Amino acid sequence: MKVLVLGGAGYIGSHTCKYLATHGHDVITYDNLSTGHLEFVKWGPFVYGDIRDYANLRQAVHKYNPDGLIHFAASAYVSESVSNPGQYYDNNVLGSLRVMEVLRDEGVRPLVVSSSCAVYGVPTENYISERLPLNPINPYGRTKLIMEWMLQDFAHAHQIPWMALRYFNAAGADPECEIGEWHTPETHLIPNVLNAILNPASPVNIFGDDYPTSDGTCIRDYIHVLDLAKAHFLALEYLYSQKPGLAVNLGTGQGKSILDIIATAEAVTAKKVPHKFCPRRPCDPSQLVASAELATKILNWIPEYTSIDKIITTAWQWACHKSHN
Ligand SMILES: NC(=O)c1ccc[n+]([C@@H]2O[C@H](COP(=O)([O-])OP(=O)(O)OC[C@H]3O[C@@H](n4cnc5c(N)ncnc54)[C@H](O)[C@@H]3O)[C@@H](O)[C@H]2O)c1
Repeated sequence: MKVLVLGGAGYIGSHTCKYLATHGHDVITYDNLSTGHLEFVKWGPFVYGDIRDYANLRQAVHKYNPDGLIHFAASAYVSESVSNPGQYYDNNVLGSLRVMEVLRDEGVRPLVVSSSCAVYGVPTENYISERLPLNPINPYGRTKLIMEWMLQDFAHAHQIPWMALRYFNAAGADPECEIGEWHTPETHLIPNVLNAILNPASPVNIFGDDYPTSDGTCIRDYIHVLDLAKAHFLALEYLYSQKPGLAVNLGTGQGKSILDIIATAEAVTAKKVPHKFCPRRPCDPSQLVASAELATKILNWIPEYTSIDKIITTAWQWACHKSHN
């Protein structure tokens, strides 16, 4: 099968390209390199372009005639979405609309999109299943929810087979160190913890130590990027077999606090993590942990990197590799 990967030069997109290519698919990356890296495009042709550019995107779909699309391309910083919501509605909502219009006009085919646990807002239960209310608390989460709604409407009107994958916290890296997590600025906890080890003058910030959790710090569900990549592969298989569209959580179902991550990073690297406590950030839920039963049931998806040690080990290998290159 031929898969067009929008945003394939980014973190999760490039790992998915590698996974698809090493499991028998041909991949084409379409990316504007706003946050992605040309060095991460190694498993097929590259088309430079913006998803908001209808004509360019349509030309790429026409030229390569893919059997399916995966749409990672988005702006993905929560705090930036609060200070600059226009960019988020433009890139994430209008960009996604253009993708759906191109499929409508150029011929429908399966579409898998990156959604987020941010669509749930502050969850009403400890383990978040897809049945919980959708109540995003920041513009980023709202743009992801609007994308899901648009997709449902386009699917209904134009029969686009679809799946929205709601990731929890993507983490880890390709164990072969060909690619890894590389955001500028980096806002994710694990790379920042490891960067603090490599640059002790820049300690990692811990926002809040008075949450109602076992150690007072926030709890999140860290899912290895290769397990995410595999889920996209399985999602395409599911859609090729003509099954109905839906939104599905991707997490491990295990919560780790910030202090758990620091302790594991210290054990994996045998080094101290310089850190400092700061006040809580606004709108940070104390706990976000997935119930991933639906993904297991319908995709037969079983995460392999279920231990946080393994996740941090691959992230550490990549952080060391990156700091030497
Ligand atoms: N990283 C996480 O923990 C996480 C969690 C939940 C959801 N997500 C979602 O997963 C997706 C990928 O996240 P990531 O961490 O790999 O981010 P990333 O920034 O590394 O990748 C995004 C890619 O999309 C490209 N892009 C952005 N806007 C574009 C546009 N208009 N046209 C063409 N290309 C464009 C960027 O250049 C980049 O290569 C995003 O949609 C994000 O919202 C990520």
